[in-house]
Amino acid sequence: MTATDSAGSYIPVVDAALHHPPRGFSDRFAYGFTKTLRFFADTFFARRYGHRAIVLETVAAVPGMVGATLTHLKCLRRMSDDNGWIRTLLEEAENERMHLMTFIKIAQPTLFERFVVLTVQWFFYVGFFLLYLISSKTAHRVVGYFEEEAVISYSHYLKELDEGRAENPPAPSIAIHYWKMPPDAMLRDVIRIIQADEAHHRDVNHSLADELGGRPAGERPIAPYPRHAVDLREPA
Ligand SMILES: [Fe+2]
Ligand SMILES: [Fe+2]
Repeated sequence: MTATDSAGSYIPVVDAALHHPPRGFSDRFAYGFTKTLRFFADTFFARRYGHRAIVLETVAAVPGMVGATLTHLKCLRRMSDDNGWIRTLLEEAENERMHLMTFIKIAQPTLFERFVVLTVQWFFYVGFFLLYLISSKTAHRVVGYFEEEAVISYSHYLKELDEGRAENPPAPSIAIHYWKMPPDAMLRDVIRIIQADEAHHRDVNHSLADELGGRPAGERPIAPYPRHAVDLREPA
């Protein structure tokens, strides 16, 4: 924590170093896949954190919707309860989309980045859908590892801000509304609260993967989730 954190007591403190050590083939596959994608993201974006956030948040908002859809269909087929999974996963997808809506107020993607988003969405949606059908446990582990990386990337973004290499403008009004932030919040507060969202998704997805692997639910501590507005649209 740094001295500039004093105004952010409503933002949960994040353990950015938390890592699930891979156990077995499914975990190793998920971790290897995540690290491969991380390599490409680091090569493509380098230190352009605003652009990186926009493009990667368009990807991050996909798994929750796929998981919710397939869990919904499975519950219909089996005529069984979802134990709250569908709502949790839909909320994750919505939350990631709000990350995107926030970053689009801070940086504008290049034409090439928009093309990358279109192309990646096709491959990632279809690929993740198939992975979820084959092994939902591996799919949730992949998301757990993606979120570990997201937490780390937002730590790097915070470092860029703190060391003066990135600007720290006032928080966009959409962020102030959605996270119920004080009106004088800055981008740094927004990055911290988004990082807390990612830490929560990380722990939730790792715990869903644990549960699908036969470990009892509730074994893993879940990072607290920041408060969010229920009505996503800002008042006119
Ligand atoms: Fe996100
Ligand atoms: Fe996330």
